[in-house]
Amino acid sequence: MADQQNSPAGPDLSQGVALSEFSGDMLLGHVGDDEVLLVRSGSEIFAIDAHCSHYHGPLADGLVDGESIHCPWHHACFDLRTGEAARAPAFNQLAVWKVERDGDRIVVRQKREQPKPRIGGAVDAPSRIVIVGGGAAGFAAAEMLRRQEYRGSIVMLSSERAPPVDRPNLSKDYLAGSAPEDWLPLRPNDFYAGADIDLRLGTEVASIDAKTRNVLLAGGQSIPYDRLLLATGAEPVRLPIPGADQAHVHVLRTLDDCRAIIASADGARRAIVIGASFIGLEVAASLRAREIEVHVVGLEQRPMERVLGAEMGDFVHALHEEHGVIFHLSDTVTSIDGKRATLKSGGVLEADVVVVGVGVRPRLSLAERCGLAIDRGVKVDAYLETSAPGIYAAGDIARWSDPHSGEAIRVEHWVVAERQGQAAARNMLGQREVFDAVPFFWSQHYDVPINYVGHAEKWDEIEVDGNIGTRDCVVRYKSGGRVLAVASIYRDLASLQAELAMERAAA
Ligand SMILES: Cc1cc2nc3c(=O)[nH]c(=O)nc-3n(C[C@H](O)[C@H](O)[C@H](O)COP(=O)(O)OP(=O)(O)OC[C@H]3O[C@@H](n4cnc5c(N)ncnc54)[C@H](O)[C@@H]3O)c2cc1C
Ligand code: FES
Repeated sequence: MADQQNSPAGPDLSQGVALSEFSGDMLLGHVGDDEVLLVRSGSEIFAIDAHCSHYHGPLADGLVDGESIHCPWHHACFDLRTGEAARAPAFNQLAVWKVERDGDRIVVRQKREQPKPRIGGAVDAPSRIVIVGGGAAGFAAAEMLRRQEYRGSIVMLSSERAPPVDRPNLSKDYLAGSAPEDWLPLRPNDFYAGADIDLRLGTEVASIDAKTRNVLLAGGQSIPYDRLLLATGAEPVRLPIPGADQAHVHVLRTLDDCRAIIASADGARRAIVIGASFIGLEVAASLRAREIEVHVVGLEQRPMERVLGAEMGDFVHALHEEHGVIFHLSDTVTSIDGKRATLKSGGVLEADVVVVGVGVRPRLSLAERCGLAIDRGVKVDAYLETSAPGIYAAGDIARWSDPHSGEAIRVEHWVVAERQGQAAARNMLGQREVFDAVPFFWSQHYDVPINYVGHAEKWDEIEVDGNIGTRDCVVRYKSGGRVLAVASIYRDLASLQAELAMERAAA
């Protein structure tokens, strides 16, 4: 029985499969212990590793579009010909396999020599690129610059102490105690020196001089640039209430923040989470996994209603209650005195640890002081360039003209930040790539993933296909009959199809 469970899926491709057995787009099989996916694209058949290099998502459940395959879990995209991780959140290339024909059989026996990723062809390679920010966008940009065979200097400045980490994990598995810390780095520590990326941690940028093209560090040093990427992200809003500065009251943005919460949670019996949106509720779920009693205090009547609508909000509320979370909605904390938190409604809650998750503010001060055009974020053009030539912006700070919604939007999504970092990198090399990716985010609550594509700040209709309560649904947010965004639970293919349809409609 155990052997059966461990045996790789599908037919043994090294023995070959008859063409007649491969009627659809994809066929999952194996070569030795490796699971390999046969993929039909037009008249060609490709063979590629069957699992995504991000979190091991099953590509057989994904979507094939031309010569690329999209992962069902967080929408990474791989080039079928080269295995390249063409779009974040995956960065590592997949192995591609040699497809042979033996009469009417398809046989796969060996990996192809790892092909080179496609190079966009730099037209204007500057000699010095500086990246301010060691998060999603900054990392993705640095990695893409080297993937594009950029050979000039890259200096990456980050005020964090840790090299770039998988930030979404900080409110999920790592906080829950189910992921070891060595899962967090986006790349091993020696990657940066190996790729000749001068990563300077614990380094605060004080200002930028756009005229002389210099970045000034808080320590006084000046670093010249030809192209600059600003990717300073966002910072958690802190509550202006008495007692919010105590050691057991936390916000969550960095690995250090997360370690501090874990230290406070160690031996804690009860926690208060202030804020009932994505981060707050993910934190609540993770603290429940540590068997801590969790009280969530939120101003809203329904968690997540503003982003996901009333019915999804009720579902998320009920899901957390099923897991023992106690809600105090339409309420807030007015002061924290030691372990006693006073609610606006008058009650008092006692807790050993408090996590404040009431939203973030984009870190705009460098951009503002440097004189960049600002509109509730750093304004960027279709190529992610700011109002100052040579300075680009990406991630949580950037407001760009989204071709799908037709609006200038700014979002706080991991995958968007990474994809903007990648596009900005190519544009800093002169490749003139319009940033037109449809926004995507995911959120995880216990065993329930919620995927969301598009962008809907308001809607006049919500259409539910399937059943939210049984965790099998596609929820469409519409305005004037047009689909602006799609949320889904366990309907990954529909989510990928919605993303593709939005991309095509905007093209
Ligand atoms: C706990 C948590 C969980 C999340 N989960 C999800 C999720 O499930 N799905 C999702 O879509 N999104 C999620 N997000 C949001 C996502 O992480 C952000 O949208 C993303 O990190 C934004 O990337 P960024 O590069 O713009 O900013 P960041 O990743 O925040 O990076 C900004 C960097 O800039 C540096 N910096 C700022 N100012 C300076 C300065 N003056 N000098 C030097 N360095 C500076 C910072 O130190 C940091 O390294 C989560 C966020 C958090 C905090
Ligand atoms: S597992 Fe494939 S994108 Fe996350």
